[in-house]
Amino acid sequence: MFRRKDRIEIKTPAQIEVMRAAGLVVGRTLEALRQAVAPGVTTGHLDAIARDYLATHGATSSFLGYYGYPAVICASVNDEIVHGIPGNRVLNDGDQISIDFGAIIDGWNGDAAITVPVGSVSPELEELSRVTEASMWAGLSAALVGGVLNDIGSAVEATIRSAPAGQSYGIVQEYVGHGIGSKMHMEPNVPNYAVKGKTPTLVEGMALAIEPMVCAGSAANRTLDDEWTVVTVDGSRACHWEHTVAITAAGPWVLTALDGGAEYFASVGIPSPAASKN
Ligand code: MF3
Ligand code: CO
Repeated sequence: MFRRKDRIEIKTPAQIEVMRAAGLVVGRTLEALRQAVAPGVTTGHLDAIARDYLATHGATSSFLGYYGYPAVICASVNDEIVHGIPGNRVLNDGDQISIDFGAIIDGWNGDAAITVPVGSVSPELEELSRVTEASMWAGLSAALVGGVLNDIGSAVEATIRSAPAGQSYGIVQEYVGHGIGSKMHMEPNVPNYAVKGKTPTLVEGMALAIEPMVCAGSAANRTLDDEWTVVTVDGSRACHWEHTVAITAAGPWVLTALDGGAEYFASVGIPSPAASKN
């Protein structure tokens, strides 16, 4: 097919406000799910909580029915990197679960993911999750007017590689972040690593989902027979963190963070509209 590459969707400030409403549904739901995670809980129960939350907040799911996807969350446990389907799997002490969730309000999408320890996990796993989350925030911090897309992947990768065990971590290549707005997945791809060559300039009104997936061992992965669940080939554990960020003239605004990123950006001295919006 000869089709010109889709251009990157630019949102008006009013459209970004609607994306903020969707992002807050995502952020609040993930907070409720984080608190619900415990040994003995099933991944299907977490999906049910998220479904209820959507229904009572006038939102619909970005995931349900997406290429036939059967749930509103992705629930990826231990060696599952991404796209785990929730069901009757019971969480055990020492597991970790990555929960990915997207919501739509008035046609506008928000998308975020968190990794949550179940009971008590190993210090190595805590560190892997900490580094993965920190790399996401480094990427969000590079969502600046006048920067380029590669600044984001470079910041994510550098943060992972500079961690104490960072040289041995695997950064997933096949699944990347993405533009987001009137659809969940839009141009551009947002890799979690630096790329060669020219990448798009970041301008006001873009919105991106930044979502590093980092493995304790090799990032080599395969998809299970359910055609969704992506697991590490070596069985090592993986963490996944994601936020949706709007690029604004006043700085990055993390639409799926409850405080919009205000606390983090203040701590690193980056101006953000979240400072005055929340
Ligand atoms: N939220 C995932 C992402 O971050 C995509 C989920 S795929 C779906 O890009 F099928 F579950 F929707
Ligand atoms: Co995403």
